[in-house]
Amino acid sequence: MPKILVSGGTGYIGSHAVVELLGKGMEVVIVDNLSNSEIEVLDGIKSITGKSPHFEEVDLKDRKATYGVFEKHPDISAIIHFAAYKAVGESVEKPLDYYENNLLSLIHLLEAMKIYKVDHLVFSSSCTIYGEPDHLPVTEDAPLKKATSPYGNTKQICEDILQDTMKSVEGKGVISLRYFNPIGAHPSAKIGELPLGVPNNLVPFITQTAAGLREYLSIFGDDYNTPDGSAIRDYINVVDLAKAHVRAIGRLLEGKQKSSFEVFNLGTGRGVSVFEIIKSFEKATNQKLNYKVVGRREGDIEKVYADTSFANAELGWKAEKGLEETLQSAWRWEMKIRSNKMKK
Ligand code: NAD
Ligand code: WQD
Repeated sequence: MPKILVSGGTGYIGSHAVVELLGKGMEVVIVDNLSNSEIEVLDGIKSITGKSPHFEEVDLKDRKATYGVFEKHPDISAIIHFAAYKAVGESVEKPLDYYENNLLSLIHLLEAMKIYKVDHLVFSSSCTIYGEPDHLPVTEDAPLKKATSPYGNTKQICEDILQDTMKSVEGKGVISLRYFNPIGAHPSAKIGELPLGVPNNLVPFITQTAAGLREYLSIFGDDYNTPDGSAIRDYINVVDLAKAHVRAIGRLLEGKQKSSFEVFNLGTGRGVSVFEIIKSFEKATNQKLNYKVVGRREGDIEKVYADTSFANAELGWKAEKGLEETLQSAWRWEMKIRSNKMKK
């Protein structure tokens, strides 16, 4: 069975992908510096799968330490590269930290691939690189808009780096997966998202408000050109998203790529408004949510959702979980975090 290096594998999306890879019998080496995750995530993974991935506490900004992972595990077949800083607002305040972390980590992995002869990499990209698209649903060949944050720009630059690198090597393959809005948690509530401080993203803010940590949710604008006036996104269940990584790895290992650099949108294909999320959350969890409409958030776009037909056809993958089920999983995870905090 192939051995997969998963960078950022104790993080939110990475941990769910590790569960799916282990479930398929693959061996996993997690590389994470725990800058935005906790070591206890490994217990959650073990408890769900009955298996333990290898764990290397390494900062990918450190070239020597990164190479050390490949020295220790000479039989790695492919890499899934999740590790990155991801907070849009923080990236505006600390742009150099974002460029340093997100670009150097990728460059060191690409160097190591050359030296240690690893042929395949799956990259975590984002729908943020489409900006406000001209046509919806957005397809993979839509023109990329100038990034509105240093974070978004790191994703564009990383895709450029990957594309340029693939031109100069033979027999290697990269798949860039552009995630829309990942939400929810594993149905077991043993792993999930751990937002630090006040969450920026909608669903963690909703679950924290329902749990009584926040007074109310601010809805950023109800004057958009959408049916109910609130902004529209494509919210994808994190387990569905994780499963797409197993498909991408399979495609690379089986040599099914049509070109050495491929891009796939990962979403549900359905646009959902902020008001619809609130209604679904209330119905799914029987909670009443306090909210207020406030002004638009700077930099927000009106609507974006994915055309997923390329991923459906080529990866043989489709998002399966419904919105209410997904919001229930987010709520169960919030309850779990709260009860763990009480115990500490
Ligand atoms: P996360 O912060 O939960 O996970 C990232 C992990 O990478 C963390 O465990 C962190 O400790 C680790 N990490 C960061 N820098 C590192 C370094 N230099 N060396 C080693 N480990 C390092 O984030 P996530 O939500 O799981 O996101 C995973 C990837 O998906 C990121 O690349 C992110 O940009 C991308 N993405 C996320 C979203 C989203 O909404 N969550 C959407 C689109 C794309
Ligand atoms: C969703 C909707 C808000 C919070 C971000 C990143 C993007 C990608 C995914 C990584 C929007 C509204 C939110 C709140 C609200 N991440 N909202 N009140 O902005 O689509 O994308 O995460 O690549 O790069 O920018 O996600 O969850 O912040 O917002 O009304 O308190 O909820 O205006 O319409 P977003 P989000």
